[in-house]
Amino acid sequence: MIYLNGNFLPIEQAYVPVLDRGFIFGDGVYEVIPVYSRKAFRLEHHLARLQDSLNGIRLNNPHTNEEWCGLITQLIDYHVSEDQYIYLHITRGVAKRDHAFPNNTPPTIFMMSNALLTPPEELLQKGVSAITAKDNRWGRCDIKAISLLPNVLLRQLAIDAGATETILLREGFLTEGAASNIFVVKENKLFAPPKSHLMLPGITYDVVLELVETQCLPYSVRPIVEQELRSADEILLTSSTKEILPIISLDGKSIGEGKPGPFFYKLNQLYQHYKEQTMRGKQVSSF
Ligand code: PDD
Repeated sequence: MIYLNGNFLPIEQAYVPVLDRGFIFGDGVYEVIPVYSRKAFRLEHHLARLQDSLNGIRLNNPHTNEEWCGLITQLIDYHVSEDQYIYLHITRGVAKRDHAFPNNTPPTIFMMSNALLTPPEELLQKGVSAITAKDNRWGRCDIKAISLLPNVLLRQLAIDAGATETILLREGFLTEGAASNIFVVKENKLFAPPKSHLMLPGITYDVVLELVETQCLPYSVRPIVEQELRSADEILLTSSTKEILPIISLDGKSIGEGKPGPFFYKLNQLYQHYKEQTMRGKQVSSF
């Protein structure tokens, strides 16, 4: 079952008019929320980022957090999988095609849930490869906008090269991945690019920084130049669906020893532990 504008229905029966501004202009925002053991992970953070994205495109939030929680709980209940990921999508609604905002038009609200398959152990042992590309996206990458054409084209470059992710560089600085945040490790210290309008403030990124802070692991949040990325001992990728992945080669050249490094193993252990701790006994609706 999916959720569309107030109703739960089978996906085959869900339709959106062709004049929806999401379809016409990509005029909307979205969230991806992981669900472990039927409980939404860091839901309050995802809803806060959703609010920031809505503010960024000047669209009213159609629901309170309590209402979102109720809808998300129902959606999770309809799905057979224990681990899921929710895709939540809001557009500026259906209106005659005109760039200007329409008046008195209700937003289109869509949510679906799918089984979440986190990266298998073999992949974590082996690591993944990445390529680099020029970050040619717009200046508000902090908004989780549904208009993802640049990200789609950039990710496809990685697929064409047989790699997993495209790491983006803007004016010589690391921003993020096409659909992930990127961290660098040098001499056992973690480096993270600072949040700005040029990257998405990842929920997993925040968890990683909280973990290194509470565990007193050395880290620094500061701009990372291209050479630091290329000469890193380890590169780590994070996202809600991929969790933490070690990148072992960049543009065909090995990173560090060409295998997942000690910082990755430590951080992933902390992340998995944190996940289990926070999800144990916590209900979706409890903030
Ligand atoms: N993408 N940066 C970009 C451009 C992303 O698309 C994503 C996630 C992230 C990581 O954010 P988070 O840790 O909150 O998932 C960073 C999601 C998973 C997607 O579009 O499917």
